[in-house]
Amino acid sequence: MAKRTKGMALVTGASAGIGAALAPLFAAEGFDLALVARREAPMKALAAKLRREHGTRSIVLPADLAAPAAARSLARVLARERVAVLVNNAGFYEVGEFTAMAPERVRQMVELNVAALAELTHAFLPPMVERGAGRILNVASIAAFQAVPFLSLYAATKAFVLSLTEGLAEELKGSGVTVTAVCPGITETEGVRSARKKSPLAARVPDVFVYDEARVARDAFRACMAGDVVCVPGAMNQLMASVNRYPRSLVRMVNGLVMRQLGER
Ligand SMILES: NC(=O)c1ccc[n+]([C@@H]2O[C@H](COP(=O)([O-])OP(=O)(O)OC[C@H]3O[C@@H](n4cnc5c(N)ncnc54)[C@H](OP(=O)(O)O)[C@@H]3O)[C@@H](O)[C@H]2O)c1
Repeated sequence: MAKRTKGMALVTGASAGIGAALAPLFAAEGFDLALVARREAPMKALAAKLRREHGTRSIVLPADLAAPAAARSLARVLARERVAVLVNNAGFYEVGEFTAMAPERVRQMVELNVAALAELTHAFLPPMVERGAGRILNVASIAAFQAVPFLSLYAATKAFVLSLTEGLAEELKGSGVTVTAVCPGITETEGVRSARKKSPLAARVPDVFVYDEARVARDAFRACMAGDVVCVPGAMNQLMASVNRYPRSLVRMVNGLVMRQLGER
């Protein structure tokens, strides 16, 4: 007899990092999985592991979400599935001067961190509202709360994610659908490990600010299932996020001083 499921959890950026750590938590809860990222092999390995450990049915969907229309074609492919949870996790950052970014990286960051997240939400939300049930988990960052010089574009994309989440959470009150933004601080994932090797600035961030991806995934999962609007994993990150109580001009100046110092030491 086919295993009863709670519907499908669609996780973007499921080939590594926080996305790969979130997928097993949804599998253990009884959701089928749709795994999306560009690299197929790690997602196939993850799907096999989820089948072995939880009997989970997973669909592996390799896709470049920074490409135009990627979100729409994903929605078409999954039209027959009951997508009960959407995890907008795929995203990337670059540390350094904004003008030093390659022009195509500027476009890709906006396409992936902003446009794909908005389009996927727009595509998968209406059936959730019709059913009167659903969960959306958007992966933002503590950078969403403040301007961060030398991470300026990234922080701006995450401010978008937080703002969209908060707006939608209020719009959807009473609908049975919840929207959550998880705002992690620095989390020790593949992306961060390689940035800390390549960028002297990233390498100088003290270890006390670096969190474990499994813990971030656990906190995000819990907040999503509870329908919390904003989740900041870890006491140190909660302290950093609380800077939004101070004048924005002061916060951006202090952030600029800290980032410059990390870059020069
Ligand atoms: N790690 C941190 O310190 C930290 C802190 C705050 C917020 N975040 C946020 O957490 C999320 C996950 O980051 P992570 O640290 O887990 O990064 P990661 O280890 O680099 O993983 C990123 C994931 O996104 C996928 N991805 C990247 N570009 C993609 C594209 N164009 N199309 C489809 N998938 C793509 C990657 O897969 P492929 O390469 O196979 O495509 C990978 O699965 C991001 O939104 C990030 O901004 C991270």
